Amino acid sequence: MGDSGVRVRLLTADDWSAFRSIRLRALADAPQAFGSTLEHARARTDQDWRELLAHRAQFVASVDGSDVGTAAGLDDPERSGAHLISMWVAGKARGTGVSDRLVRAVVDWAVDTGHRKVWLEVAAGNTAAERLYLRHGFVRTGIQGMIGPADPRPEFEMLLEL
Ligand SMILES: CC(C)(COP(=O)(O)OP(=O)(O)OC[C@H]1O[C@@H](n2cnc3c(N)ncnc32)[C@H](O)[C@@H]1OP(=O)(O)O)[C@@H](O)C(=O)NCCC(=O)NCCS
Repeated sequence: MGDSGVRVRLLTADDWSAFRSIRLRALADAPQAFGSTLEHARARTDQDWRELLAHRAQFVASVDGSDVGTAAGLDDPERSGAHLISMWVAGKARGTGVSDRLVRAVVDWAVDTGHRKVWLEVAAGNTAAERLYLRHGFVRTGIQGMIGPADPRPEFEMLLEL
């Protein structure tokens, strides 16, 4: 499958139910890839999901009306840039170009909102994610850290200069 049948949409706060659904799928499928947990996400209220959407550009990709992937852009005012987070593609849609469409959606959003840089973090060993980001021009900055206070696994930072 090429990416021609893929539709990418930007969620609004009213789409919180679709956001919750795909985010829970992502966390259940690939818990090792994210700093958040399924348990934490399940505990969020409907209003929490709405508020998350109010402060990010959350894109969802669908094929034939079924949601198959998501990624988001966040303002990073401390560094005058944007952050790409929350990237996930369902197993059946991997290797089809859906991931490229989602990266492009976030990068286009960053350009349209006046950002000159996009950062992201990748867990060490997540080769598929790193290769995807490399293909879109992201490079390792040399900065490494832990995924989070409750998750000491190493992650590294990548940057795309627009
Ligand atoms: C990361 C993810 C979005 C990439 O989507 P995808 O559809 O698999 O992406 P692609 O098909 O473009 O594959 C990316 C690259 O990784 C390679 N790859 C795919 N699966 C791989 C694997 N299991 N091990 C190593 N490399 C792999 C592909 O060959 C491709 O490399 P290439 O550009 O040199 O050809 C998807 O794998 C995913 O959702 N993973 C779980 C969540 C996740 O890790 N999110 C990223 C958080 S930073």
